[in-house]
Amino acid sequence: MLTTIVSLMATIWAVLHPVTLLLASVTFLILADYLKSRRPKNYPPGPWRLPFVGNLFQFDLDVAHLHLGIQQFVKKYGNLISLDFGNISLVVITGLPLIKEAFSHMEQTFLNRPITPLRERVFKNNGLFMSSGQTWKEQRRFTLMTLKNFGLGKKSLEQRIQEEALHLADAIGEEEGQPFDPHFKITNGVSNIISSFTFGKRFEYDNGQFQELLRLLNQATYLEASMMSVVRSLLLHLYNVFPSIMKHLPGSHQTVFRNWEKLKLFVSHMMDSHRKDWNPEEPRDFIDAFFTEMAKHPNKTTTSFNEENLICSILDFFLAGIETTSVTLRWALLYMSVHQEVQEKVHAEIDRVIVHGRQPGTADRESMPYTNAVIHEVQRMGNIAALSVPREVTADSTFAGFHLPKGTMVLTNLTALHRDPKEWATPDTFNPEHFLENGQFKKRESFLPFSIGKRACLGEQLAKTELFIFFTALMQKFTFKPPVNEKLSLKLRVGLTLSPVSHRICAVPRL
Ligand code: HEM
Ligand SMILES: *[C@@H]1O[C@H](CO)[C@@H](O)[C@H](O)[C@H]1NC(C)=O
Ligand SMILES: *[C@@H]1O[C@H](CO)[C@@H](O)[C@H](O)[C@H]1NC(C)=O
Repeated sequence: MLTTIVSLMATIWAVLHPVTLLLASVTFLILADYLKSRRPKNYPPGPWRLPFVGNLFQFDLDVAHLHLGIQQFVKKYGNLISLDFGNISLVVITGLPLIKEAFSHMEQTFLNRPITPLRERVFKNNGLFMSSGQTWKEQRRFTLMTLKNFGLGKKSLEQRIQEEALHLADAIGEEEGQPFDPHFKITNGVSNIISSFTFGKRFEYDNGQFQELLRLLNQATYLEASMMSVVRSLLLHLYNVFPSIMKHLPGSHQTVFRNWEKLKLFVSHMMDSHRKDWNPEEPRDFIDAFFTEMAKHPNKTTTSFNEENLICSILDFFLAGIETTSVTLRWALLYMSVHQEVQEKVHAEIDRVIVHGRQPGTADRESMPYTNAVIHEVQRMGNIAALSVPREVTADSTFAGFHLPKGTMVLTNLTALHRDPKEWATPDTFNPEHFLENGQFKKRESFLPFSIGKRACLGEQLAKTELFIFFTALMQKFTFKPPVNEKLSLKLRVGLTLSPVSHRICAVPRL
């Protein structure tokens, strides 16, 4: 009897013990998590969060900025709402007044970028896209000056874009009006502009080295996309949460690192070959200009003008300057293929203003309000950077009456702005009239594809020049059409940017 009781007790204990232990530890962990991530007083409101994962399984930010029900929370809580994704606390700003307040009046508070462990490992605080503080300041000032010196608004970079537009038109002409996916050729053209600026040269579209560079870049942007898409690339996310463990494990994050190393190597070969025939009197491109700056600041401890920053800034141009412009141009050709009546008006304006055969240039923009409006409308509808690029709060502060602790991540909802029914006559329909008034081009305040303020897109002028010249030059030569018996889709693909799903169009030569 006794032995039965004892053995029964032992059995119960054996079962109970681990369960109790487990329960106790789970309770402890939840409590610790709660205490650790308890929201500070007067923190912006937001949906209820689960322990550890926060809103991770309620919204995938990826999809959230498109369809999911964040809007209901904006209705409920107002224009500043908070969300938690694992260990990341973020707020989303909605509406022009708050966006302006954040990025103009209060911009010192929102000047930094959040840096994930992944980015940290590859870039440290180098370059200019994700850097902060003195490095960012120095590099941004220098890059803007260099872009200007290479003739944005003046001649030479614009000429390079015109020249590249001819190459692109030739390449598209080779399709002879048959259906083709314009992705590859457009990306080549756009990449050559960045390549001209940084390396002083363009590549033939079939150049193997160039193709390898673009392939690596494409894979590497996965890393950037992962910043936005927490769920989709779980491995990369795990790396962000547990860098010290993941560092030693195999997986797709390792491929990403290897790709970045290859990209850095490519750029550093370019630097080596520049060094051989560098003439400080005659800078040919960004690398040469950077060398001059490095020579001016020999003490490496007091300046950000070192080789690591040169490499990282160049990678940043490739990251920020190719996909964005290329995707926008693809949207443009797609919208033209779908809206033939708009395309006819663009053709008519081109034929009227750009006398036959001449190359379009930015000087023509003034006299081409319709084409200009079309490009703006493509950017509004394309809305390729739906949540802009994340910023980070630099110091504990009060914003819109709420407390924002240092380190909070800040997203701007550009979709809400670009699709605001109060601002746009037909918010969800492609309609160039949004940017026209009495036949003249009309600027719109609620149009911010490049964001605003000191940290707005550094390539805005370059991008606008590219969009205008590439688009006009292609429209001058071709009529874009859907393939016979095919209906083109305006569906989105979510990645680093919002791009059209892969599609084919026909470029029928004009005349
Ligand atoms: C249609 C084309 C483009 C769009 C829609 C676009 C959009 C943006 C946006 C929304 C930001 C974030 C700004 C912010 O945080 O407030 C940004 C940053 C940036 N963009 Fe662009 N961009 C485009 C083309 C380019 C090009 C051609 C370059 C060429 C170098 C470029 C370089 C950059 C850089 C370096 C930053 C980071 C600036 C900083 O942190 O100081 N972008 N862009
Ligand atoms: C951004 O705004 C759009 C349109 O109002 C909305 O559908 C979407 O859920 C919002 N996304 C976020 C992250 O706030
Ligand atoms: C570089 O600058 C730092 C800080 O101003 C100084 O301590 C150091 O001696 C300098 N090094 C050289 C080689 O001039």
